[in-house]
Amino acid sequence: MTRTNGMDIDAMIARHRDGFSMEKPFYLDPGVFEADVERVIMPIWHLVDHASRIPNAGDYFLFELAGESIIVVRGWEGEIRAFYNVCRHRGSIICREAHGNVRLLRCPYHAWSYDLDGSLKVAQLMHEGFDLKDYGLHPCHIGVSHGLIFVNLSPQPGIDFDTFIDPFTPYFELHGLANAKIAHRASYPTEANWKLVLENFFECYHCMPAHPEYCQVHAKDYILAYGGGNGSGPEEAEVVFQPQLDAFNEKCKSLGHLYGSFVETDDNSPHMRSAARTPFKDGWLSETRDGQPAAPLMGTFKDWDGGYSATAFSPFATIFMPNDFASIFRFIPVNEDHTDVELIWLVRAEAEEGRDYDLEKIIWLWDVTAIADKTIIEGNKQGILSRRYEPGPYSRHEKGTNYLINWYLNRLRAGA
Ligand code: FES
Ligand code: FE
Repeated sequence: MTRTNGMDIDAMIARHRDGFSMEKPFYLDPGVFEADVERVIMPIWHLVDHASRIPNAGDYFLFELAGESIIVVRGWEGEIRAFYNVCRHRGSIICREAHGNVRLLRCPYHAWSYDLDGSLKVAQLMHEGFDLKDYGLHPCHIGVSHGLIFVNLSPQPGIDFDTFIDPFTPYFELHGLANAKIAHRASYPTEANWKLVLENFFECYHCMPAHPEYCQVHAKDYILAYGGGNGSGPEEAEVVFQPQLDAFNEKCKSLGHLYGSFVETDDNSPHMRSAARTPFKDGWLSETRDGQPAAPLMGTFKDWDGGYSATAFSPFATIFMPNDFASIFRFIPVNEDHTDVELIWLVRAEAEEGRDYDLEKIIWLWDVTAIADKTIIEGNKQGILSRRYEPGPYSRHEKGTNYLINWYLNRLRAGA
């Protein structure tokens, strides 16, 4: 297929039928992906990791997104900064390794060397009048809240970090994310466009056939009403689930725990944020195989409340949090055919594996679910390659996916 120019994309957006999946090029075409990057992906505050990944000065990791490489590094005073991984001399990448510890950020080409604050310290044999101060690394917008590191690649973010993150901070405090550590991380590279990965994430129509483990942990009423996120199920499913939610809210009130939810419904929001606290099925205390806890309580929980929190910062990052651990989901578009899916599990900072927490128990549900999702998403992509593919109708249980697609098309239109 030839590259899609802006006019073609506009025509495709205009042809889209609400309630249906999209035309083929939205899932396959490199020109559409380029427009996605500029109009949809760049304006977003992306969750990149937890600060406990880089505890010491000089610890760094690379955040790679849609062809950009960003160095996230802890400085001498403990602050975390982000820089484009591009030397100010002739543009070589500076860090080749995905993570490490350095005293200086030293370019492997001609050895220009930068301090951890991005300032250029060493550049040999430059002409007279050359001023090191003119050639510091290009900084990248960064925000850190309760240990969660976010990066924004747009020249000027449309929403400042504090405003962006503010609605989530009560959830972070409840779950003690500032006092957490990484228990495990795993990646599930998926050979499919990011929209196929996210269409799948925002509906639970596939949960019964594809995720027996998820259906073992969560009640059917919950799955029908909330399985693909807030408002993802038909209205009658929400009505059926409401008494269970009311009972959970009362329990939280009596324990002094946070309860409730919010959903950002502005179609023009660059982020599509939401958060919710909801109950597990009766008798379940955590998101584990047998419903029993796998780790010590986190944050300010006084007792097990039988519920969990979900915070969605954008379609590209969500955290699911029972009372004892947190499962971070990151969806990272690489190109039109490839999306990295990464999961990071957090536990209380002082907890020790084996003594205080059972790692296999913590990762069981979402690991097995992510593996199953990779298979069905890649199968979805293979079918869309067919000449006979045409957009198909969403069920009433795919409201979340339809909302996602309308949000996406609005973002694409707005950025034209
Ligand atoms: Fe980095 Fe030359 S490109 S020192
Ligand atoms: Fe799934």
